[in-house]
Amino acid sequence: MAGLFITFEGGDGSGKSTQIAMLAERLRALGHDVRSFREPGGVAAGDAGERIRDILLDPVNADLGVRAELLLYEASRAQLTEQHYRPALDAGAIVLCDRYADSSVAYQGYGRAVLPVAEVQELNRIATGGLVPDLTLLLDVDAASGLAQATSAGADRLEAAGREFHERVREGYLEIARAEPGRVKVIGRAPVEQVADEIWSHVQPLLSRIGRE
Ligand code: TYD
Repeated sequence: MAGLFITFEGGDGSGKSTQIAMLAERLRALGHDVRSFREPGGVAAGDAGERIRDILLDPVNADLGVRAELLLYEASRAQLTEQHYRPALDAGAIVLCDRYADSSVAYQGYGRAVLPVAEVQELNRIATGGLVPDLTLLLDVDAASGLAQATSAGADRLEAAGREFHERVREGYLEIARAEPGRVKVIGRAPVEQVADEIWSHVQPLLSRIGRE
């Protein structure tokens, strides 16, 4: 793989999208080819990934079972990985993802607390063909303030899942970070510019790898 695969993770309302936009701008200013994606989702209105996203986030689907939910997230991920992440990485691009496989481990595994985490990891492996990020930035905020931030515009299906669920998601993320400290960097709440600088301190050392593998 010639490019660089960087994923952003964290609870709802952790400020990922702002940081992704800032990082993308910084990288583009250096002349890098940057492609941004978000999960669940696709690349154009009405495509399969965006339609899966609609199903997953619609509060109307409150009775969606844990397995169906997980498989829909994995379907969206499988499609993006095969059609977009891998080709972009092969072309030497920097791929930035707003959520990836760790989201399923944290939300469907630790959060729902029904399926064994190992099963979720196995499905991630199947959906992605084993594509693992070079770097994962975990924006860690306490569940209460993140949720307050996220739901000020009205709660989607996941945001409506309750405080305890979101506490488990946060703990799950921290567990993932403890298990893979080389890949996953935990970034605490701080002013936007400070978070951006911390992110940059993790990204910059990886830039020399691009195009060499
Ligand atoms: P979104 O509106 O994109 O939220 P955010 O800005 O917080 O990323 O909604 C995505 C929701 O889907 C979010 O609540 C997390 C959840 N999710 C999972 O539960 N499992 C997954 O595998 C992914 C990718 C997301």
